[in-house]
Amino acid sequence: MLEIKNIRKKYNDLEILKGVDLRVEKGNVDVILGQSGSGKTTLLRCIDVLENADAGEIAIGDIHANLSHLSQREAIRIRRKMGFVFQNYGLFKNKTALENVMLGLNVVRGVSKKEAENIAKEAIGKVGLLDRLDHYPGQLSGGQQQRIGIARAFATSPEVILMDEPTASLDPGLVGEVLTTIENLANSGVTMLIVTHELSFARKVASNVMFMDDGVIVESAPTKDFFLKPTQEKTIEFLRKSSPDYGYMI
Ligand SMILES: Nc1ncnc2c1ncn2[C@@H]1O[C@H](COP(=O)(O)OP(=O)(O)OP(=O)(O)O)[C@@H](O)[C@H]1O
Ligand SMILES: [Mg+2]
Repeated sequence: MLEIKNIRKKYNDLEILKGVDLRVEKGNVDVILGQSGSGKTTLLRCIDVLENADAGEIAIGDIHANLSHLSQREAIRIRRKMGFVFQNYGLFKNKTALENVMLGLNVVRGVSKKEAENIAKEAIGKVGLLDRLDHYPGQLSGGQQQRIGIARAFATSPEVILMDEPTASLDPGLVGEVLTTIENLANSGVTMLIVTHELSFARKVASNVMFMDDGVIVESAPTKDFFLKPTQEKTIEFLRKSSPDYGYMI
């Protein structure tokens, strides 16, 4: 379970997150939608403590902490409870697929090299890339790189995996394989919070959907209700704009 209360963040004098609350239950896959610039990446980065929030509380696993007053030790403990999947994969270019997945286990968590290798191979098997263990990122397609990025995120068995537009950098033909990989994870009970623009994917996989606008979550509902009975004008406008045949979908 992940719970966030009243998270706030300013860049210079500009308020980007204006008090965001959210809660992701164990085993749920929750999706955040929103226009470009609404603060989705900033929110995920503040939750993962890649960015310091100005205010806010986090509860994850057995940790409760104030995000604006984190010691380095607390920040590390929080980050270890999460996996992060980046839009641009975030793999080390000079390390093989296997080494990339092992790194978090071996170096960060102090698992022995042999054990890290076994866990990493199992994770890579789950994303269907056991035949690419020794390939460097430059020798993998974008879709394959992202599947390795996903394997790296769940290899450490985090409480929750945060994904920031995991398919946004991919050629259209490669989006499907990554979405299928995420769907398989979802079906195996992994808890996830995903920022995406893929509405049909959200409809299929998400437990709850949130719509973010100008630094606040304006609507949050179980997926079916979100798409069938949105209540906020801004959500309806977004859905209409994002899928011109929206009226026919419902
Ligand atoms: N490091 C930074 N310094 C200053 N402003 C920033 C910084 N990072 C983000 N911003 C601003 O914060 C706002 C929200 O950015 P953010 O990246 O969170 O949006 P987003 O919802 O993820 O958009 P997109 O859908 O395009 O990825 C933007 O106006 C952006 O210019
Ligand atoms: Mg973003």
